[in-house]
Amino acid sequence: MDKHQVAQALAGLPSGGIRYYEQVGSTNSDAARWADEGAPDLALVLADEQTAGRGRQGRKWFTPPGAALAFSLVLRPDPPGASLDDLDTPARLARLTALGALAVCQALRHSYRLAAEIKWPNDVLLERRKVAGILAEAYWQGENLSAVILGIGINVAPRAVPPDAEVIFPATCVQNALGYPLDRLQLLRAVLESLLEWRSRIAQPAFQRAWEDWLAFKGEWVEAVPGGSEGDTPARQGLVLGIDPAGCLRLRDREGAVFTLRTGELRLRAL
Ligand code: BTN
Repeated sequence: MDKHQVAQALAGLPSGGIRYYEQVGSTNSDAARWADEGAPDLALVLADEQTAGRGRQGRKWFTPPGAALAFSLVLRPDPPGASLDDLDTPARLARLTALGALAVCQALRHSYRLAAEIKWPNDVLLERRKVAGILAEAYWQGENLSAVILGIGINVAPRAVPPDAEVIFPATCVQNALGYPLDRLQLLRAVLESLLEWRSRIAQPAFQRAWEDWLAFKGEWVEAVPGGSEGDTPARQGLVLGIDPAGCLRLRDREGAVFTLRTGELRLRAL
């Protein structure tokens, strides 16, 4: 992969500019600096290798050279043609972050015929193993959301898959599920096309429907281990019902009470 190949693979797609690195610390950090300097909507930072890739909740994200996709998009908050004004800020943020998972999921389903699922809030699974992670970081100017940096990491080839002992959820790669090697830049284009498509429909009911249709563990009992601001609350078991318009996960407990989670980690409970 080189700069020229990247430009060629993405030719014709709407873009706010492309920065390509053979090696970078974290594409999210680079994109955040660029956003601070005024990067336009849809500016893209892509790297072959990350030396300090970041995951959610302070975890590391492993991106060895030649085996993965690691990229970050600068999203300015109000996409043209799709007003999110009716949603409050957390709900707008939830939709913008869900975009990444929806786009990866659709690209794997439509372009590669793989039964990808979304593990709420925004991981992508193949065969119940994590194939992609999304790190969405919000930047504010005063009380206004000025940009979301949407970072997407996809394990493409087996070398990108961390051993089970090093991760909290078992991982896989697209190549393992497909059974043969694939072109990383074709996958990148498919993901960006899906992302642009869903972004124009971000405020529509179809967006929430797709998010829910592809939700992993729907109708199954899970252990919901809250994270983020809910980190101090105890784990709760529940039957996964779906996602509400604000992007919260809806579950039902054993007494029949419905409860929601705004942020968190999901762990499958062994029955
Ligand atoms: C997670 O599952 O914990 C999220 C992983 C997000 C990884 C991507 S790779 C591209 C971008 N740059 C980073 O440093 N992180 C995200």
